[in-house]
Amino acid sequence: MNNQYKAEPYRIKMVEPIKEVSKEKRATLLKNVGYNPFSLKSEDVYIDLLTDSGTGAMSHDQWAALMRGDEAYAGSRSFYRLESVVKHITNYKYFIPAHQGRGAEQVVLPQFVKKDGMAFISNMHFDTTRAHVELAGARAIDCVIEECFDTSNYHPFKGNFDLDKLKTIIQDKGQTNIAGIILTITNNSAGGQPVSMENLKATTKIARAYDIPLIIDGARYAENAYFVKQREKGYEDKSILEIAREVFDLADVFLMSAKKDGLVNIGGIIAIKEDEALYQQVQATIVPMEGFPTYGGMSGRDMEALAVGLEEALDEDYLKHRTDQVKYLGDQLKKAGVPIQYPTGGHAVFVDCKAIAPHIPFDEFPAQSVVNELYLKSGVRAVEIGSLLLGRNPDTLENIDTPLQFMRLTIPRRTYTYSHLDVVAKGVIDVYKNREALKGLTFTYEPKILRHFTAKLKPKND
Ligand code: F0G
Repeated sequence: MNNQYKAEPYRIKMVEPIKEVSKEKRATLLKNVGYNPFSLKSEDVYIDLLTDSGTGAMSHDQWAALMRGDEAYAGSRSFYRLESVVKHITNYKYFIPAHQGRGAEQVVLPQFVKKDGMAFISNMHFDTTRAHVELAGARAIDCVIEECFDTSNYHPFKGNFDLDKLKTIIQDKGQTNIAGIILTITNNSAGGQPVSMENLKATTKIARAYDIPLIIDGARYAENAYFVKQREKGYEDKSILEIAREVFDLADVFLMSAKKDGLVNIGGIIAIKEDEALYQQVQATIVPMEGFPTYGGMSGRDMEALAVGLEEALDEDYLKHRTDQVKYLGDQLKKAGVPIQYPTGGHAVFVDCKAIAPHIPFDEFPAQSVVNELYLKSGVRAVEIGSLLLGRNPDTLENIDTPLQFMRLTIPRRTYTYSHLDVVAKGVIDVYKNREALKGLTFTYEPKILRHFTAKLKPKND
C-alpha cells in the first residue's frame, strides 16, 4: 500500500473469523445454488462484497447506545432521540421510521400516484425503488447524463440528471402525469456516482417550474456530500452537514435506507419537509404495513444505534477512509487494465463486464458470468448490476438491455482492511486474464419480480 492512503481510522476491538473454502467445494456449491451467489451461505464466502447494506461494523458508541433502547410500543424515548437527530440533519418537520429503505418506499411512493399512467423520473432508480414504483401502478423512467455510460472517461459527477432529457420527458408525458422526481444520491446503479449540487439545484428548478414533488432517495447522502466537497468548486470549506442540509433544503421528502450511511444493520427513514397532509397519510399507512409511527418496524435499541450512526457517518476522517478504500481497489484494477466505472464512486468498484466479455450477449448476463468466476477463483462474492437485475420491460416482457453490465464489488463500512482488498484485486485480475473462457448463462428458473435475488441459471451449453 503506498502512502497516498492513510491507515484505517479505527482499532479493531472485536473480530469475526472468516475462512476460505476450497476451490473444489466452491465449484460444487455454485452449481448447487444455480449459479446465483445470492443463494450461497455466507460462511462459504471468504470476502463478502455482495452489498454495503447492513453489513458494516458498528462503533463502540453504537453498541453502547443499544443498551439505552426503550422498547415501548408507543412514544418510545429512542424514537424521540432518533427524531431529534434526523430533524437536526435534514431540517425537516416530520419523521417516521421504517424497517429499511424499501419499507419507506412501499409506504410513501404510492401516495404520489394519483391516477393510471403516471411515471416517476429518477437519475436512476434502484431496483427496489423501481419495483415499488411499478407495484404502485406507475412507470420508472431513468434520466442520467450520457457521460455515465462511458465508463473509461473521467467525469466528476456521473450520477447527474440529464436536464434537457428531463424537460423533454416532462413535456412529452405532460406534467400532471409525473408522480415525482427521485434524486438518487449517490447514484447506486451507475457506480455509486455522485450528483453535483449544481445539478441538484437545476433539477429542483425544473421540478418547481412544473410543480412536481421532489423525493430524495438518500441511502448514501453523506458519501454524496463528501464528493461535493472534494470535487465541486465553492464547497471545499463547507462541512458535510452544511452540504447535506443544502441538499435537503431542495426537496420535499427524504427516504433513506439507513443500512448504508446510517451505519446500522437494519433501519429506514421517512422525513417530510412540511407537507402535513402527506405526513398524515403516511402515518395512517405505516401502521398496518410497518408498525406504529413511533417505531415503524424498528426496535428501540436499533433506533438508538441509528441516532449515533447518522452522526458518525458525517465525520470526514471516516468518509475519506471509506471512499479511499473504494479508490484503492479501483486503482489496482485500473492499473492491471481491468475496465471499471471511472472515477470510482462512494461504496463500490463497478467492473465493466460488457468490456470484459463482449462475446457474451446482454441477455446471457456477462456480469453474472464474471461474478461467478470471481467466486470460483477467489471465494470473493460480488453482485451483478446489469440486465439480470433490470429484469424485463413490464409492457413487452423483453429482457432490458443496458450498456452498463457491471460486477459490483461493494465494500462494507469499517469491515475489511486494505489487505482484504488486495486479495479481491488479485482475484479480479485473475478472472480478467482468463476472460475469453467466460460463458453466458441461461435461466432454469426465473421469478417474475426482482428475479436476480432468487433466479437459477446454468452456463450456456452445459
Ligand atoms: N435506495 C437505494 C439507492 C439503495 O441502494 C437501496 C438498497 C434501497 C433504496 C433500498 O433499501 O435495502 O434498506 O430496503 N440497496 C442495497 C444494495 C440493497 O445492495 O445496493 P433497503
